[in-house]
This record gives sequence, C-alpha cells and structure tokens, in this order.
Amino acid sequence: MFNVKTILDKKGHDVWTISPEAKVIDALKLMADKGVGALVVMYKDRVTGLFSERDYARKVVLHGKSSIDTPVKEIMTFRVYCVNLDTPVEECMTLMTEKRVRHLPVVDKGKLVGLVSSGDVVKSIMSKQSNTLESLQDYIKGKYS
Ligand SMILES: NC(=O)c1ccc[n+]([C@@H]2O[C@H](COP(=O)([O-])OP(=O)(O)OC[C@H]3O[C@@H](n4cnc5c(N)ncnc54)[C@H](O)[C@@H]3O)[C@@H](O)[C@H]2O)c1
Repeated sequence: MFNVKTILDKKGHDVWTISPEAKVIDALKLMADKGVGALVVMYKDRVTGLFSERDYARKVVLHGKSSIDTPVKEIMTFRVYCVNLDTPVEECMTLMTEKRVRHLPVVDKGKLVGLVSSGDVVKSIMSKQSNTLESLQDYIKGKYS
C-alpha cells in the first residue's frame, strides 16, 4: 500500500514552518536555506496557511509590495488542503491536480506531522509502478522457466 506514511517514512517527518507575522523576506531566506518551495504557516500550533514560491511570485512585486515589510499573513494562501497518514498517493495526486496545489500538510490527530509535495507524490507513484513491473517479471519468469 503506497500512502502518505510510505512517503514520510522515506523523506522524514520534519516540516519547515513560519509565523503569519514573519516578514516575506525571512520566509524566502528560510525556503532558500532549506531548499524547499513552501512553508506551512502556523499560529498557536495550528495550520493557518501555506506560503509558497507561487504566492511570492504573484502577490508581492506585481502588487507593488516589498518582501522586506510585507508580513507572510498578507499574501499566504488561506485555504489549505491537508491529508493524513493513511491517504493513498493517488488521492494526493487527484487533490493536487483538482485544487491546483503543490504541497499538502499531513495532519494526524490534529497535529502537523509532515508535508508532501507534488515531487514526492510523482516519485512515489513511479516507485509503485516499478515494483508492480518487477513483480510481474518475477511471476512470468517463475511460470515459464
Ligand atoms: N521531491 C523531491 O524529492 C525532489 C528532489 C529534488 C528535486 N525535485 C524537483 O524540484 C521541483 C519541485 O519539487 P517538489 O514538487 O518536490 O517541491 P519542493 O521543491 O517544495 O520540495 C522539495 C522537497 O522538500 C520537501 N518540502 C517542501 N516544503 C517543505 C516544508 N515546508 N517542510 C518540509 N519539507 C518540505 C518536499 O516534501 C520535497 O521532498 C520538481 O521539479 C521536482 O522534480 C524534487
């Protein structure tokens, strides 16, 4: 079974987060430092938004704002789609495609326990297909050798 837990068992449960009051410049620095394309915005241990490279690209300079004095809460995406550890990878892909999002925070019993990206989901689906192919090859070898 390839689900969100399968992905997190490989990539780890660490999640990079930021406060809604932090400035956009600090969010960009953290994203560059950690090599990630999004940050989960947390307020009092609760997921309140998502800040992504896309938010920055579309909502700062184009709106005459500056990353130095704009707080994350002013441009973050408020509607966050979350998944849980049991969510199948195909369901993550459907959600990402239908809602046009690239990052899904993972929540377990109300707590943030991970994050999956579109890259993670594609990698997992490729690995699942490769496993299926290997099993079929083994079956054919066993049957006809
Ligand atoms: N997913 C990968 O393992 C990976 C690795 C290298 C390059 N890429 C390429 O980079 C591009 C974008 O990649 P992406 O869709 O994975 O998005 P991304 O660049 O945001 O994510 C890269 C990795 O960082 C993780 N990540 C992102 N934000 C995080 C956060 N706030 N906290 C913890 N982990 C976080 C993701 O889960 C993923 O494993 C794609 O073209 C992809 O092919 C992906």
